[in-house]
Amino acid sequence: MEKYNLNYPNAYHELKSSHFGNDFKFGVATAAYQVEGAYMDDGKGLSIWDDFVRKKGKIKNGGQGNIACDFYYRYPQDLQLMHQMGIKNFRFSIAWPRIFPEGFGAINPKGIEFYQRLIDECLKWEITPWITLYHWDLPKRLEELGGWSDRMIINRFGEYVDYVTGKLQNVPHWMIFNEPTSFISLGYLLGIHAPGKRGIFNFLKASHHANLAMALGGRIAKANQPNSEVGTTFFMVDVHPYGNTIQHQKAAERFDTIVNRLYIEPSLGLGYPKDSLPILERMEKYMLPDDPKNIQHKFDFIGLQNYTREIIRHNIIIPIIWAKPVFAQKRKVEKITTMNWEVYPEGIYHTLHRLAAYKGIDKIYITENGASFDDQPIYAGADAIDDIVNDVDRIDYLQSYLVQVLRAKQEGIPVKGYFVWSFMDNFEWAEGFTKRFGLVYVDYPSQRRIVKESGKWFSRFLRE
Ligand code: FCB
Repeated sequence: MEKYNLNYPNAYHELKSSHFGNDFKFGVATAAYQVEGAYMDDGKGLSIWDDFVRKKGKIKNGGQGNIACDFYYRYPQDLQLMHQMGIKNFRFSIAWPRIFPEGFGAINPKGIEFYQRLIDECLKWEITPWITLYHWDLPKRLEELGGWSDRMIINRFGEYVDYVTGKLQNVPHWMIFNEPTSFISLGYLLGIHAPGKRGIFNFLKASHHANLAMALGGRIAKANQPNSEVGTTFFMVDVHPYGNTIQHQKAAERFDTIVNRLYIEPSLGLGYPKDSLPILERMEKYMLPDDPKNIQHKFDFIGLQNYTREIIRHNIIIPIIWAKPVFAQKRKVEKITTMNWEVYPEGIYHTLHRLAAYKGIDKIYITENGASFDDQPIYAGADAIDDIVNDVDRIDYLQSYLVQVLRAKQEGIPVKGYFVWSFMDNFEWAEGFTKRFGLVYVDYPSQRRIVKESGKWFSRFLRE
């Protein structure tokens, strides 16, 4: 393996995939609701996102994922393009309401057939499928019954995982959840993601049930697919206080506890981090005798998702944590994305170290990292092949983060893979279609794909 000299961080443009060794997995990621479209086709039921996007004022510019990237129909061309770009690993998710339109009970065979076709198409192009079982699109019917804040969800989720992992073949890598921190805090505390619930009790219950469901899902998937790796993914971010006052430091600690610790520590057998956040004592109310045992599960790997860092200040308006990020724009940082996220490559290095310091974590994949910028295609006329999206900022972002991943790896952190978020531009949740994260540009009205300069760079990087 060619050694990359980390003493020359300014030379990060010379980074090659071979510096990471031959067994390091590079890939790209998407999620069902963000790309598939076909929201009512072939027997699919509605999800909480299908519902949420219809509520006034929830999504920027009124965006809806009804069609999104039309991936449900265009996946053969998209996988062919991925293959042409030299991409060997593809992380995507399964829409639960395609499989169980009502969330449980009656199965929709066309749903499972679609995902098996998608897997087979990946294999045809020598692309390894990595499947996330839950990337936030809960069946609407289950939300009507209480969603993640009702304990029934644990077994419903278990049944769904059991069916899918019992059926789908040739999937070597499974992930139970995508970022519990995000779907629980944004969806059940702050109300800015589906299902739009708020309140401390919704949040505490939903957190506990998600933790139990994640461990149960892990056990079921592993039992059904003993020869596959079963992991789950966590959002983790480097957190710093805004200045040195005790007030801001305490706020940063509370934020850190919710965002970085609440979902991983119970699964590792460490229980809830009550010392840092006494309100978690109230979890006791929802705890059944076997829960402390059942909440634990040893995953084969942990997926780490990291984009930026957070600077936190005291703020009494935000419930539970009384803490609020100071946006990058306000801090006048040098490099910033259109999500208003600071470009802070050292953050991925520090979170990798922090994650690896937990006992029992011996394999990490970066399952998401990437950036949104205001990409403007330069159209070359009728010949689509010549169109250009010159997203130099994204190339710079990816290279600077990759150097930090390599730095951690060379220091012995067991990081074994890296996935770019995202393969193509897509529906960015509450931001609708206003944010572009792709290596491939999507012209939504025509559904034409244009490989951005970052996509061309990634292809070269993968081949070198
Ligand atoms: C992550 C989500 C992913 C995408 C990126 C930008 O939190 O998992 O779906 O929205 O952020």
